[in-house]
Amino acid sequence: MPPGAGQLALPIYASHDAIIKAVRHHQIVVVEAPTGSGKTTQLPQMLLDAGLAGDRMIGVTQPRRVAAVTVARRVAEERDCRVGDEVGYAIRFDEHASSKTRIKYMTDGTLLRESLEDTRLSAYSVIILDEAHERSLNTDLLFGILKRLTTHKHRRKSLKLLITSATLEAAKVSAYFSGCPIQSISGRQYDVSVSHSLENHDNDYYQAAIDTAMQVHLHEAPGDILMFLTGQGEITKAVRQLNEAVSSLPADCECDALLVMPLYAAMPPDMQARIFAPCPEGCRRLIVATNVAETSITVSGIVYVIDPGRVKQKSYSPQTGLDALTVVPISRVQAVQRAGRAGRTQPGKCFRLYTQQYFDRDMPNITVPEIQRTSLLSACLYLKSLSNDIDVISFDYLDPPQPEALEDALRQLFILDAIDGQGEVTPLGSQMARLPLDPCLARMLIAAANLGCLPEALIVAAMLSADSIFAENRGPEQIARMDAQQLVQAGGITAAGQQLVKKLMEDGPGDHILLLRLYRAWQETGCNGNWCQAAGLNTRGMRFARDVEGQLEAAIENSNSTFFERALGDGSIGRAKKRRKTSHSSEIELRQAILIGFASRLAHRMPTHNGYKTLGERSVLAQLHPVTANIAADEDGLLPEWVVYHELIATSKNLLRKVCPVDATWVSFITPKIANADVNRLRGGHREQPSQGGRDIETVSVSAAEQAAAAVVPRPQA
Ligand code: CDP
Ligand code: MG
Repeated sequence: MPPGAGQLALPIYASHDAIIKAVRHHQIVVVEAPTGSGKTTQLPQMLLDAGLAGDRMIGVTQPRRVAAVTVARRVAEERDCRVGDEVGYAIRFDEHASSKTRIKYMTDGTLLRESLEDTRLSAYSVIILDEAHERSLNTDLLFGILKRLTTHKHRRKSLKLLITSATLEAAKVSAYFSGCPIQSISGRQYDVSVSHSLENHDNDYYQAAIDTAMQVHLHEAPGDILMFLTGQGEITKAVRQLNEAVSSLPADCECDALLVMPLYAAMPPDMQARIFAPCPEGCRRLIVATNVAETSITVSGIVYVIDPGRVKQKSYSPQTGLDALTVVPISRVQAVQRAGRAGRTQPGKCFRLYTQQYFDRDMPNITVPEIQRTSLLSACLYLKSLSNDIDVISFDYLDPPQPEALEDALRQLFILDAIDGQGEVTPLGSQMARLPLDPCLARMLIAAANLGCLPEALIVAAMLSADSIFAENRGPEQIARMDAQQLVQAGGITAAGQQLVKKLMEDGPGDHILLLRLYRAWQETGCNGNWCQAAGLNTRGMRFARDVEGQLEAAIENSNSTFFERALGDGSIGRAKKRRKTSHSSEIELRQAILIGFASRLAHRMPTHNGYKTLGERSVLAQLHPVTANIAADEDGLLPEWVVYHELIATSKNLLRKVCPVDATWVSFITPKIANADVNRLRGGHREQPSQGGRDIETVSVSAAEQAAAAVVPRPQA
């Protein structure tokens, strides 16, 4: 299907011939063009229509799930096909692609996982690493992996690689790929007049943004507004507040109607679709968005941009294992990018809620790539599983990660039995890498298969993979504590629903087991949506978990892996599921499996109070997060001696979130391993004979640990 007039008008078409020629003549090409030029939607179509796909696919990676899906829908529409036919997408737990698919949008994580199954990526003739400027961890890993694949001695000569970016240091990427050509495309950018505020807003940027939005709406000429905020909670609040402000305008106000719309990654797809629908006559749109609107999603019609200069960013400290999700200043590159969103269709205006001086002098130059501020646990496992020749420390990264972060990851992988004492990936480790889960959850499933509680563990993994199981981000404890008036205010939660949640956590099971029980209770209602609402659960989250459970089950059934033999041997997991209802005894095995999976995240209670100390090389003091599901205390009010945690977050305090109590006897099987995680050996790469010290490392056979756990654990009276 030939491109329509709208498509042909996009800036990238002006360089059509040059791009096609460059791709024909070079294996690797960097394409640099401003946001909205048509890189994501048009480039793959141009290559396909020029015959460059051959008889394979064009794979296009996106750092964000939401972008992969919306873009695939858009391109399918442009080519007049159904999503999953000529144009498809694949993101974790959601795939719409078929043998007919020629252009496949996917997250960078999905392509990484595919590369484990097929290291030569033979399904693809072209790979486009899109939105490379975002420098997501997985895109950075793909840089290295694709560099190997296109340059090492058994390289795939026919594979074409394009790296596309809006603002990237193209020269740096080109140098990394041995000086590959750069195609620069100038966008059609109208003037954007930028005004800075007279003072910086430290804690009140939110209110400043709301006020500015109302000012723009009341006093500026027609045109849509894009306002950046930092997260879903803030955005939801802003939408509510702005709607209230608009409804309290005097009746004789002569301004247009204001249509306030949120835009964030976790938004339901039908709500996202509204963003691309045309604006009704006599109406101004105000889109309140996270950073997703900075480059990955282009909303048309924006004339005004409000930029508070903040972004919510993940960071991880390998020294302490603490994760933080904090609001931090954006970089100057991002500020320029945001302003540019105002000038796509006509001259625009950008209102920066920080001073000119701050922009000139104090704003960070560039954003720190994710690889330098996140846990590298799964990254290291991927690299090691891809090939034992890869030395994660000296791997050819575009920007190398901190050595401490790599060491931290290696230590954890050893504790999880994913690598041996010499740093080589174990068969168990490569099975873990192949499951679409973080290594801890993957380890938990394998342990569960040995301990005979895989169906239960699948549910826990699925429930932990859903963004929000509880509506409005409440925790179970909060639901349990609501009084009658709060229940009414919460809208939907009923007294009976609250009773049920209370009852399910009466015996202090902790979060994982509570999630399992909630899921089972929901299943018993035939997966009823009203029931979810009554109990304060998020129906969408629960349905997502159900899908994930099914997909994990299928992944395991198709894996033919010896690690799941016991679980699969006697028929499908499905049958196993029907045979057993959750009983307290299967919960005990499940908690053992959780311990084995989260062995690198153990915490020990202080002798006299309820503070916990995390175990490992560098431990920290932390408390249970207030939303933790009930954990039973003893007569002296003391919490269980040992817990494992899913998350350790730094806020004003260090908090353990999603916690499971575990038995001290089981823990004694794990602690020697933690003590033995000697990072100097685990670095691997240098494969000389193990030194004297090296031999001391106990390469505990996993199943031995598991079997021991199963045999020794005393069965408490249920
Ligand atoms: O990737 P790049 O930023 O260069 O541009 P793009 O995402 O391919 O977008 C090109 C054009 O398609 C823009 O004008 C977008 O507004 C439009 N588009 C759209 O209308 N709906 C989508 N779902 C995606 C893009
Ligand atoms: Mg794009």
